[in-house]
Amino acid sequence: MKVAIGSDHGGVNLKQKIKELLVSKGVDFQDFGTESADQPVDYPDVALAVSRAVAAGQFERGILICGTGIGVSIAANKVRGIRAALCHDVFSACATREHNDSNVLCLGERVIGPGLAAMIVNIWLTTDFAGGRHAVRVDKITACENG
Ligand code: RB5
Repeated sequence: MKVAIGSDHGGVNLKQKIKELLVSKGVDFQDFGTESADQPVDYPDVALAVSRAVAAGQFERGILICGTGIGVSIAANKVRGIRAALCHDVFSACATREHNDSNVLCLGERVIGPGLAAMIVNIWLTTDFAGGRHAVRVDKITACENG
């Protein structure tokens, strides 16, 4: 699996921890920035870059981090084909893969610690979409996107 990862300045430190986790798991990834917690950037810029790369099929999944996770999730969900899920608990991370086939995970560095974030990323990366009745529902979202 190839993962696109990105954060604004509010998510740089948690992004670093998640990158270390991805390395330890042997997951291939590309970092779309930003690099510094001291240099403010606009979260939509990073969220849209990661989301467009996932929507274009260059990456199977995306992980986005800002201070709350809310800004990046709002921006990511504007990109056609992106189902971004803001998850700050393990149950939601599992359920959003099984039920929503989410392809972008959003996290807030100012909301959760690195230990919980690692558990969330682990379960989100390894849980399959359940399909069936859930596919019917996801298809309705896709149909809405396609007008
Ligand atoms: C940046 O200060 C902050 O607004 C951003 O990281 C994020 O929380 C926005 O939703």
